[in-house]
Amino acid sequence: MLTKKLTKLLKKAFIEAGYDSKYGEVVVSGRPDLCQFQCNGAMPAAKEYKKAPFIISDDVIEKLLSFEETKQYIKVAKTIKPGFINMTLTDECLIKNTTELGESNRLGIESTDTPSTIIIDYGGPNIAKPLHVGHLRTAIIGESIKRLFKFLGYNVIGDIHLGDWGLQMGMIISEIHRNQPTLPYFDSEFTGEYPIEPPFNLADLEEIYPRVSAKSKEDEQVYNEAKTATFELQQGNKGYLALWQHIMNVSLIDVKKNYQRLNVDFDLWYGESNSQQYIEPAVKVLKDNGSLYKSDGAMVVDVAKDDDKKEIPPLIIYKSDGSVIYGTTDLATIYQRMQDYNPSHILYVVDSRQANHFTQVFRCAEDNKLVPRSTSLEHIGFGTMNGKDGKPFKTRAGGTLRLSDLIDLVEGNAKTKIETNAKERGFTPNADEIESISKVVGLATLKYADLSNYRMKDYVFDLDKFSSFEGKTGPYILYSTVRIKNIIRKLESAGFNKGELLIPASQVERDILLKLDGFNNVLQMAARDRAPNVICEYVYELATLMSTFYHMHHILNEENQARKASWYTLLTYVLSTLINGLDILGITIPEKM
Ligand code: ARG
Repeated sequence: MLTKKLTKLLKKAFIEAGYDSKYGEVVVSGRPDLCQFQCNGAMPAAKEYKKAPFIISDDVIEKLLSFEETKQYIKVAKTIKPGFINMTLTDECLIKNTTELGESNRLGIESTDTPSTIIIDYGGPNIAKPLHVGHLRTAIIGESIKRLFKFLGYNVIGDIHLGDWGLQMGMIISEIHRNQPTLPYFDSEFTGEYPIEPPFNLADLEEIYPRVSAKSKEDEQVYNEAKTATFELQQGNKGYLALWQHIMNVSLIDVKKNYQRLNVDFDLWYGESNSQQYIEPAVKVLKDNGSLYKSDGAMVVDVAKDDDKKEIPPLIIYKSDGSVIYGTTDLATIYQRMQDYNPSHILYVVDSRQANHFTQVFRCAEDNKLVPRSTSLEHIGFGTMNGKDGKPFKTRAGGTLRLSDLIDLVEGNAKTKIETNAKERGFTPNADEIESISKVVGLATLKYADLSNYRMKDYVFDLDKFSSFEGKTGPYILYSTVRIKNIIRKLESAGFNKGELLIPASQVERDILLKLDGFNNVLQMAARDRAPNVICEYVYELATLMSTFYHMHHILNEENQARKASWYTLLTYVLSTLINGLDILGITIPEKM
């Protein structure tokens, strides 16, 4: 890590020149045309020492250049007024550094020195409703953040936190009761074994929920029956629980299929229902603290603070009918997670529109010491994926687009492109290959487009743009990576061997060496801000440098064998970096495309 090594040198130089070492921080240059690295510490130091910044930077540079070790590192160090210290490294230093990174088994990526447990709560689909576009971003962003922290050495647990304990379950149960009242689930005298076969299939289920949900809005009795059924389910009514299990089983098959298509995987398939047994102990804490009180028949906890800019209403723990709701299960889940995993962080990757809910839940948990100070609860919000009209993406007819239809759409689009593009390049995949490549490219299209926007931003779904083989897109990055694989494959099959890195043959090769060194920094930044878009930007820049490189140099035709062997080595480093970067984004790379 060059910035680290340079910072160490600069700090030493600041001290020896009589200044505080804190000013010695070195960063990658903002003006790569002028220098590779810079230290801007002389400007703030000037205030403290009441001197002109360039006097300080000159002092520091004088010391810096007097160190023996500097000679191996630094080719040029000079002051640029008012007091920037601009530095460019020797090529020898770059090569040595790249070789070290390339030969280390993790590309020089630092693991955390505090490998605590982090729970990532993402996905969060509600059972019995088909997954739709609204479930896309949490899945993609959550998966990437999970992979990132895993890569950095944390013990990460991804939990899907299914919505499986709320009113929608009561609605379905009461609707089935109305339609099939003779089923044993509704017979309180029934003592036998409930049937193994569910009394409905997925298609039935998907039709039941919207029907009863619409009815309940018009018919108060339907609504009340749903509420009662929800309450009884939560109280442990045996028949309802058995029916609930059927709903879960049938629904989960489809849920799993969707996540599998997204290449998103959870360590825990828990849901709101799993928190049921922790509600009592969690509520006891609230009671013992004197936080829980009755308000309009409901039981609530105040979470407002004096300096709130907007009103934060109390968190409802029990509704007036005694049933628990979203906030209650979230609170109980915090209790459960602390007990089972004692995490340092719980990150909730959930739509920004739920910000108030999380403010309420987190305050309630923190104020009542359900979590220690050392555990941080964080809402990792995100914006919406919009249509060209600027509103959340819909079908042409204005309905909610199913997630599976969206995936079909991008895969279909990728397929058409692969068929034409492959032909142009003389690659003739068979039908199976086309099928599997389209899946991988389709998913990369979707994921890269989503992740490359800073998560808090809304973005417009523009398939033509996202699926282009040029520009900042998934297909472009994949194609660049596959191209490296192709060259390596050719070198391999010609029996060629990798060799030592040589002094870079061009500026672009030097830029690639510097870029490879930046990977660690990029991952640390992405983790700090919970922002995978930084990694998207990085892989794009690296891929673009490679395409400039091919314009300048022809690896396979290179006559200087040592040079060719050096480029071979460099290619393998670039490839590993891209593979790791893309893997953190949850993007798979095809062998060919
Ligand atoms: N099921 C919720 C919804 O559809 C999302 C769950 C998010 N996670 C959580 N712990 N609240 O809105």
